Amino acid sequence: MNSAEIHFLLDGRDVRIRDLAPTTTVLNWLREHEARTGTKEGCAEGDCGACTVVIAEARNGSLRWRAVNACIQLLPTLHGKALFTVESLRTAHGVLHPAQQAMVESHGSQCGFCTPGFVMSLFGLYQSQAAPDKQSIADTLSGNLCRCTGYRPILDAAQAMYHLPAPESSLPAPVWRADKDPAAARLLARLEAIEHDDTTLMLSHTRGDGTLTRFIAPRTLEAFATQLLEHPQATILAGSTDVGLWITKQFRALPVLLYLGRVRELARIELSADTLEIGAAVTLEDAFDHILPHYPELTELWRRFASRPIRNAGTLCGNIANGSPIGDSMPALIAIGAEVVLQRGKQQRQLPLEALYLGYQQKDLTPGEFVRAVRIPLHSQSNGESLIRAWKVSKRHDQDISAVFAGLAITHEDGIITHARLAFGGMAATPRRAVLTEASLIGRPFDAAALADAHHALTQDFQPLSDMRASADYRMRVAQNLLTRLQLDMTGVTTRLDTLEVTDELG
Ligand SMILES: Cc1cc2nc3c(=O)[nH]c(=O)nc-3n(C[C@H](O)[C@H](O)[C@H](O)COP(=O)(O)OP(=O)(O)OC[C@H]3O[C@@H](n4cnc5c(N)ncnc54)[C@H](O)[C@@H]3O)c2cc1C
Ligand code: FES
Ligand code: FES
Repeated sequence: MNSAEIHFLLDGRDVRIRDLAPTTTVLNWLREHEARTGTKEGCAEGDCGACTVVIAEARNGSLRWRAVNACIQLLPTLHGKALFTVESLRTAHGVLHPAQQAMVESHGSQCGFCTPGFVMSLFGLYQSQAAPDKQSIADTLSGNLCRCTGYRPILDAAQAMYHLPAPESSLPAPVWRADKDPAAARLLARLEAIEHDDTTLMLSHTRGDGTLTRFIAPRTLEAFATQLLEHPQATILAGSTDVGLWITKQFRALPVLLYLGRVRELARIELSADTLEIGAAVTLEDAFDHILPHYPELTELWRRFASRPIRNAGTLCGNIANGSPIGDSMPALIAIGAEVVLQRGKQQRQLPLEALYLGYQQKDLTPGEFVRAVRIPLHSQSNGESLIRAWKVSKRHDQDISAVFAGLAITHEDGIITHARLAFGGMAATPRRAVLTEASLIGRPFDAAALADAHHALTQDFQPLSDMRASADYRMRVAQNLLTRLQLDMTGVTTRLDTLEVTDELG
């Protein structure tokens, strides 16, 4: 059964849309069709946060709230969800929501252009977390830029909003007070009612010049796999944090979009004794929530991967499938021995992650095949003491693209290296293992001679490119320095704090 109508809720109102270009972004729809101009456009590429909106969805019997960037989310992906914009916080009596009132009282706004975006990030936090610490507040606001105020007053507002009276409005209560809240229960029931069956959402739209665009959003894995076999040239759409930019920046024509975000089976995270399997529809934020307890060494990778709203929308498998040579998750996942589960029709196969990448933008995926999940081993296969590191080197600390990314895993017994998986991003046309460097280290102590040999082997493994982010020489020097840092860490010399923490100096 198919449906040709996008159905979502906006301020409790049912919105049903037919015959709209499926590539319409949530931002453009809000501003141009609904005249809700509180949501601003700054960069139109997910970088500035001026367009932040909040989405609520039904998840395992409760409501889940996420802030996302409206500029790169496509309207049909709202099907079955509830959308909240800065206008949603308005009350009949003009009383401000605590997120707004705290911004006023903390002097968190000057020109005001960024303010609706900050308020919505704060609202998303307020709805989902009762007593966030300073680090969590900083993470929440990592995707919002302000060019006037400075961040101190806004960080203050984030703490202050929890001490203000709860709003008297029709908004559903936050998850930490939702137990007996009729508005939250009503919203949950309505969202569950929209997504109650296995109907595939099938939209098609013909532009004035005759161009046809289709958007297909199945609900089951079987329907998804079948649709991909029928449309092998379709663009698979997951969190839209890469694909969204193809639309807003490159104006690419995408005749068929096949969305996996509604497929229940792909939203699963499965933990067994040996592996953690993360489905293709699982967001980066949820994926890292489950990975970090097993691999705390990847905390810096998670924190420096884009921003909270991007991680709330983008998926881990989307990062893997996009296969950018400077994608951040792959070197770390390759180092810890992750595998991808691929599916075509009913057939599945499994590959070591590094084997997925054949060349620049070339993957070992046949037409009609997709990444179903990534499978992460929970234990090292070898005896001895393991050391895992994931280091990102970029010009800015936050929200920047890597010049070089190193995912390094070694095991040593009595000081002798027995096992090495060293993977790099930014050094070749794909994320890749440094196989000669690995071989140069195995079976010996990590002493000065081994390090010198590893530095040399790295020049045989990689001939990096120069581009606007870094020169080839710089990339090689940085990658060699990261090997030096690994050696210092293995031999017990602390090189720097692995994670930056928000201190009292920041507020
Ligand atoms: C502001 C900003 C900051 C960013 N920062 C970072 C960063 O720090 N580090 C980093 O690595 N990336 C970063 N990215 C890139 C992006 O967020 C990631 O690559 C993200 O993981 C992509 O996932 P997605 O679900 O949004 O993929 P989408 O955009 O939906 O899809 C990406 C590509 O993968 C394909 N695809 C998606 N899922 C599958 C599947 N299951 N099977 C087969 N093909 C599939 C799509 O067809 C498309 O080609 C950033 C992007 C933005 C906009
Ligand atoms: S407009 Fe800048 S993030 Fe959307
Ligand atoms: S108040 Fe002007 S950009 Fe933030």
